Amino acid sequence: MCGIVGYVGSRDATEVVINGLQRLEYRGYDSAGIAIYDPTIGLQLRRSVGKLHNLQQRLAAEPTRGQIGIGHTRWATHGGVTEINAHPHRDASGTIVVIQNGIVENYLQLKGRLIELGYQFESQTDTEVIAKLVGLYYHQHRDLVTAVRQTLQELRGGNAIVAFCIHEPDTLVAARLGNAGGVVIGLGDNEQFIASDIPAILDYTRNLIFLEDRDVAVVRRHEVTITHLDGTPVERAIHAIPWDPIAAAKGDYRHFMQKEIDEQPRALMDVLRGRIDQEHGRIELTDIRLSDADLRRVRRIYAVACGTAWHAGLVAKFLIEQLARVRVEVDYASEFRYRNPILQSDDERDALLLAITQSGETVDTLAAMEEARNQGVSSVAIVNAIGSQAARLADGGPIYLHAGPEIGVASTKAFTSMLVAAYLFALRLAQARGTLTPAQIREHIQALIELPGKAAQTIEQTTPLCIKLAERYHKASNALFLGRQINYPIALEGALKLKEISYIHAEGYPAGEMKHGPIALIDEQMPVICIAPRDHIYEKMVSNIEQVRARHGQVIAIGHLGDELLAEKAHHLIGVPATLPLLQPVLNVIPLQIFAYHVAVLRGCDADQPRNLAKSVTVE
Ligand code: G6P
Repeated sequence: MCGIVGYVGSRDATEVVINGLQRLEYRGYDSAGIAIYDPTIGLQLRRSVGKLHNLQQRLAAEPTRGQIGIGHTRWATHGGVTEINAHPHRDASGTIVVIQNGIVENYLQLKGRLIELGYQFESQTDTEVIAKLVGLYYHQHRDLVTAVRQTLQELRGGNAIVAFCIHEPDTLVAARLGNAGGVVIGLGDNEQFIASDIPAILDYTRNLIFLEDRDVAVVRRHEVTITHLDGTPVERAIHAIPWDPIAAAKGDYRHFMQKEIDEQPRALMDVLRGRIDQEHGRIELTDIRLSDADLRRVRRIYAVACGTAWHAGLVAKFLIEQLARVRVEVDYASEFRYRNPILQSDDERDALLLAITQSGETVDTLAAMEEARNQGVSSVAIVNAIGSQAARLADGGPIYLHAGPEIGVASTKAFTSMLVAAYLFALRLAQARGTLTPAQIREHIQALIELPGKAAQTIEQTTPLCIKLAERYHKASNALFLGRQINYPIALEGALKLKEISYIHAEGYPAGEMKHGPIALIDEQMPVICIAPRDHIYEKMVSNIEQVRARHGQVIAIGHLGDELLAEKAHHLIGVPATLPLLQPVLNVIPLQIFAYHVAVLRGCDADQPRNLAKSVTVE
């Protein structure tokens, strides 16, 4: 969600930066700020909470002037929504300013070290830690790009940053670490632009360079130089972006689905923003209009959804039951609405409906919400589309995913964001009900914070193998996906992804149930995708894999990176990083999406608009 804009050239930098931030308003934010430099005036910093309009009013009263500057729209992660927490942040000397998108996973550790060195902090943000570190190294090397490089080497997590220093008044340094935040550089005629997202700078240029992981760009009026984090020069292609706005939004990608798969690290971060308080081990899910007392009264939850969102509901059941110890029933919305469900008795008003929907317009899900309302049951909706019907119907509040528009019909980033939103909801319930201590909640928060980086690692490391496997298996007529417990819904989702976009018949099954039917289908032609992380059910999965092998099925295992036993048992192992078992589904599903996508492309199918399917199903 946070937006980044930078400019150096001969235009009025304030105008370019504010205009760019306006183009990114759709991403959502809670405060904004700019830093503009002019040699005769010096560094001018303006920040405001709330909408950009507030910042513009501030600028009308206290204008800024200069031809170099940076701006940022912030969605709070560390620290509340205050002017002091808004970006840009300054180093100790006040001569360097920094803006950031992302989360610094080890910021508490770095902050502790700086405090020991005598540094003082004005904000609660992780970004101020970056600014102070850049300042520390700048004063050692007297070179901004070296200082930025050295700082980035110490950060853990995914970040996009832009920095400048008044002692190098014609230079912006932009960098990208991991895949959690993009950086695009727009090339102009004796002027250059920097942004987190393409729309911010399309008014000025169509010639764009996309920074890759660990790229550091030195951006000056007349030139842009890109190096790797270690200082070695790298060449990045210049992409000419078409004028058609939809094609422009697709950027360099062949399909939206591929773009949306790649956007997941950022989406996983955006769903967390403003909702976690790491220091106090608290979940601040202010979207929910239910008090702690309301949440304590809840004894049963009905999760209703359709399609991929229904799979998210199945995962939500595990999360809520394990973390908050509240019973959950999961229903297809289209079944729920016609089964005359008994939701709660008149004297025990203890039920809650949890609707999960990307579009917020799926007719059956809306009808299920109406049914709950008619029975006096409140509903909470996990929903992506802002202002959609489901968001409005949810009297307990919509929990927005903030994943940005999802265009590909097959849901990817909305699904993984739904899992994290459900996790936050489960933790919020646990907090109200006292089933987890703040220390335990802090551990979950730490794992959530590390998740976007692990998702980025998963995408990067599993894609080459997924492509190879797609080449090998794209002519298959059937595929079986097996998982257990919380990864059973992931088997269902993997099968759904494959069938909906490649038209290969695919089934997801609980692995233990395989011997009661699907085992009859297994032969040497059949790819069997087995999800087997090292959890309490790992050994059972391994024996299911043996059973598949004994029938000559081709086993593709999804397991933890470096799992040698699994590598030995399966024909192919797709290794993903380990996280908490309840969060593992988020990482496990990613290679399944990538595999399905490449199979579809190899089969000549339109991955974005599969036949007969619609993105939002507003009819019965
Ligand atoms: C359609 C889409 C799916 C989606 C389902 C539910 O079938 O093609 O991708 O999962 O509807 O949509 P919703 O907007 O309610 O999540």
